[in-house]
Amino acid sequence: METEGKYIKYRGLLCPKETHSEDSLKYFEGFNTRDDDVIAITYPKSGTVWMQEILPLILSGGDFTSVHTVPNWDRVPWLEETRAPLVLDNKPSPRAMVSHMPYHLMPPSFFSSQAKVIYVARNPKDVLVSSFYFHQMASFLDDPGTFDEFLEKFLAGEVLFGKWTDHVKSWRNNDLGNRILFVTYEEMVKDLRGVLRRFLDFLGREMTEQSMEQVVSHCTFSHMKNNAMSNFSMIPRDIMDHEKSPFLRKGIAGDWKKHFSADQEEKFNTTIKEEMAGTNAKFPWDE
Ligand code: A3P
Repeated sequence: METEGKYIKYRGLLCPKETHSEDSLKYFEGFNTRDDDVIAITYPKSGTVWMQEILPLILSGGDFTSVHTVPNWDRVPWLEETRAPLVLDNKPSPRAMVSHMPYHLMPPSFFSSQAKVIYVARNPKDVLVSSFYFHQMASFLDDPGTFDEFLEKFLAGEVLFGKWTDHVKSWRNNDLGNRILFVTYEEMVKDLRGVLRRFLDFLGREMTEQSMEQVVSHCTFSHMKNNAMSNFSMIPRDIMDHEKSPFLRKGIAGDWKKHFSADQEEKFNTTIKEEMAGTNAKFPWDE
């Protein structure tokens, strides 16, 4: 696989070398999906770590042990990252995982399995803002330059995992039937309890009202920000510098309004609209 500065290129997609290796990407390609696996798919900065908090609580019926004792990257590993080959094979079922991969690059065993997928989409303007700050705090990513420069790169797809529109479109054009559920980050911000109910129904899981309350309260932004197993505070400062920008930064919908000029907004909207034309995808941020 080709490398390019701080990145390894996987089928044309930029992945950080710090977290992705040739071995982990090969493991991903040959991954043995189990029928009861649950995979949360996200374009980077769309709520991945949030799903790493919620899924184990659902699959364990509200047992908080793992979210208090196991770091998010081992609790719900990224399928394509370096921890996956070390922890996934020995994980008891049902396993929860996350991935940033587009649909067509998923491993063959995924397509022949009954594994379920939750796709979380986020307003791409907020994704861009979140990613801009992430590139400032993570030394394993290139400096983002000015906001305007980073916006250009984002629209050109010269960023982690390529274009946002390609990612979303790939997962909307799927043959998965009732194996996939689409939610948005914005719905989670607005009504986490309601989204949790949808997750439980989709995954065929039960939870008492009291457990649901506890899960919702544990998965709030402020609570997760203080959970050392989820806030990346264990990562050395020369790799992630939370003084520059915390990983759990703001946790809101609409922060883009503080960052985009009118011209940038127009350019961004026009490009995304053109690229999404004909998909009939309806998102809360388009209303
Ligand atoms: P911001 O940078 O806008 O704050 P990912 O995990 O895919 O990298 O996404 C990170 C984004 O999700 C960050 O967005 C982070 O704050 C947000 N996030 C994580 N947990 C959250 C929670 N419990 N509530 C709201 N936002 C959350």
